[in-house]
Amino acid sequence: MRILVTGGAGFIGSNFLNLFVARYPEHHFINLDKLTYAANLLNLTEIENLPNYTFVQGDLTDRPLLDQVFDRFQPDRMVHFAAESHVDRSISEPGAFIYTNILGTFHLLEICKKNWQESNGKFREGTLLHHVSTDEVYGSLGAEGLFTEDSRYDPSSPYSASKASGDHLVRSYFRTYGLPVLITNCSNNYGPYQFPEKLIPLMILHALEGKPLPVYGKGENVRDWLYVEDHCEAIWTVMEKGILGETYNIGGNYERKNIELVHTICDLLGAELNRDPQEFKDLIVFTRDRPGHDLRYAIDSSKMMKLGWQPRETFTTGLQKTVQWYLNHRPWVESVQSGAYQNWMKQQYDEKIIK
Ligand code: NAD
Ligand code: DAU
Repeated sequence: MRILVTGGAGFIGSNFLNLFVARYPEHHFINLDKLTYAANLLNLTEIENLPNYTFVQGDLTDRPLLDQVFDRFQPDRMVHFAAESHVDRSISEPGAFIYTNILGTFHLLEICKKNWQESNGKFREGTLLHHVSTDEVYGSLGAEGLFTEDSRYDPSSPYSASKASGDHLVRSYFRTYGLPVLITNCSNNYGPYQFPEKLIPLMILHALEGKPLPVYGKGENVRDWLYVEDHCEAIWTVMEKGILGETYNIGGNYERKNIELVHTICDLLGAELNRDPQEFKDLIVFTRDRPGHDLRYAIDSSKMMKLGWQPRETFTTGLQKTVQWYLNHRPWVESVQSGAYQNWMKQQYDEKIIK
């Protein structure tokens, strides 16, 4: 297979490539990534010289470039990770989310349709677009219940609304044209190579630097955490065994309140560094809440599990591995803490921290 991966220099895309490029030398992986602030080519050093891997820098909406990529590599599969992915950024600057998550997805659908549709209107055997999406499209749960594949779309932020739009477009290309597609909607991922604007890496790195640990609102919001490699394995399983046109929800079955999670990170750092965890807990500050902040996400993964997938990592082992990874990868951390990151964090502080 020739697999075009979009957004493969970001957090989940690079974990996906690191796992599967080495595991499947018989497949050729082409990584198309614009290299936004969230991307880092250092994420891919393990595989960058392998003969079945090619990197192309470019934007999803650049149609001449998409034509060139299809002419040259003739991909028969696409795994679409590329997105603007951070909720807080979507609140302060939504434009890029509309551009990439909606318009970018539209351009990919069009290029796949153009290249994979045969003269009889049917699609070439073996072609497939796998659209990677999020549980946030379903909005917020109350204290009880789980998201299923039938949950109503009810997005709260410009990010989740743009992902919901992408999902709707993908589904419409299946229903209208018969384009072979699969959609997965996953809960919160964590693990190596996550950009430190997201909760877990942000807390680890702030604690190490003695900076405030900003918990939004009262820290009562609940997320369902999944180790990133388990998400990647789930995507591969769905590509192998999923039914075209269907949606599969993926979750870790590990719900935690944000404040509890931050305490656990402080405990793990204390244990790793032989320091009193209270030193880190004293850095916690409660800030103004995120507007439109979804209270709780939790996933019913039973449809996914019927395909034979289940998470391998427990939250305890996964979080410990993640803390150790950030402690042991200082050059990576320094590479992402560039000007763009510093400016963003400064803006966050100016707006949110209650001084
Ligand atoms: P990320 O922000 O770490 O990476 C996104 C990547 O997309 C970056 O490498 C970036 O350069 C690239 N990109 C952005 N705009 C582009 C464009 N116009 N053209 C080409 N490339 C572009 O994101 P992530 O956390 O790895 O998420 C990947 C996907 O998984 C997203 O679609 C996201 O919605 C979805 N998802 C993420 C999570 C999570 O917890 N992180 C959970 C569920 C679903
Ligand atoms: O559920 C899947 C989604 O998970 C993905 O689609 C998104 O791309 C990904 O960013 C993530 O969204 P969240 O908004 O849930 O993740 P984030 O790490 O930004 O925040 C997790 C929770 O922690 C959320 O309730 C907000 C809170 N938070 C976050 C940050 C960055 C804080 O309390 N303080 C913080 O500094």
